[in-house]
Amino acid sequence: MFEVEFDVLEGLEPYALEEIRACCGRACSPVALYPGRIRVRFAGDLRALLRLRSVVAAYLIVTYDVPRPRALLGHQHLTRLLTTLKLVRSLTKPEYYRTLRLSAAGSDSSVMTRLKETLAAHTGLALADDEGDLLIRLRRAESNGGWEVLVRLSPRPLATRAWRVCNWPGALNATLASVMMRLTRPSASDRVLNLACGSGTLLIERLFLAPARLAIGCDPDQRALQCARRNLEAAGFAPVVRLEPWDATSLPLETRSVDVICADLPFGQLIGSHRDNEALYPRLIAEAARVAAPNARMCLLTHEVRLIERVFASCTDVWTPVEIVKVRTGGMTPRIYLMRRTSSPVRPA
Ligand SMILES: C[S@@+](CC[C@H](N)C(=O)[O-])C[C@H]1O[C@@H](n2cnc3c(N)ncnc32)[C@H](O)[C@@H]1O
Repeated sequence: MFEVEFDVLEGLEPYALEEIRACCGRACSPVALYPGRIRVRFAGDLRALLRLRSVVAAYLIVTYDVPRPRALLGHQHLTRLLTTLKLVRSLTKPEYYRTLRLSAAGSDSSVMTRLKETLAAHTGLALADDEGDLLIRLRRAESNGGWEVLVRLSPRPLATRAWRVCNWPGALNATLASVMMRLTRPSASDRVLNLACGSGTLLIERLFLAPARLAIGCDPDQRALQCARRNLEAAGFAPVVRLEPWDATSLPLETRSVDVICADLPFGQLIGSHRDNEALYPRLIAEAARVAAPNARMCLLTHEVRLIERVFASCTDVWTPVEIVKVRTGGMTPRIYLMRRTSSPVRPA
């Protein structure tokens, strides 16, 4: 039986737990949910956890009933720790591990320096100060006054996607994108439209969850579309996605022709401005209502809470709220709005 901890974006804990349960079934029993963290007992193959898409990182926890970290240098404790490191490294190709990082309060103290050097010598990995492939965290245990060592299960956080070969300013955290798309209850019959698609994060995460009958991403910025194209190619989804230079407020699509609409809207900070959004949001949401089929799901992310709530309040006959989720990401607290299209006809603009 393993003790495992997951880092998740604050606000997404219940959704990440749902994915963990779906992935691990009875092999996993939750122990505790904290803001931004989930702790479970797990009795299965640890490789299964590397497939989770809504968690930022996963760690194996080893608890030591010792009063001070110095005791970890003792033969018995050190052997146990090295066995854990070996197990974690066996989950991924060996060439992915070159460096080791020990993260702990007082990591420059003489004891921590000895511990780091001892671990580096035994593992054959070079010590790193910032990003390390083998990340080891040391902290006081929550329950018994001892110490816990957390070893990250992957050489990079799980949120760092291999498909992201092109970075776009304001690109969405992929775990948040995955949760947004899971909220739409993906089905292979969905016709999916990603408005303001930027580098394609929502589309890619959607297609990892399920195939789609149609997948279109639109953004008037050609550089964004080029970036999305590269990421889609790296993810293997380029052949099944159409990328279009459309303005989301005026779409050349038929009325009632899509089942899922998603967008990570300009927040008006890094991308766009609050003034632009005052004009953009009502028009985009009205156009989304036109192209949405009855009962279509729309999942939007924005930090412009007052603006979007004002817009939705003005069209309650066409968009019904299903779920609103406040999430903490990149130092901000945007909200996810999951809406359902009613069957009312669109009012003329
Ligand atoms: C926050 S970014 C989206 C980032 C994207 N989710 C990603 O992960 O790369 C917002 C995007 O909205 C696009 N945008 C701005 N005005 C638009 C409009 N009228 N129609 C469609 N897209 C628009 C911008 O070009 C920008 O790429």
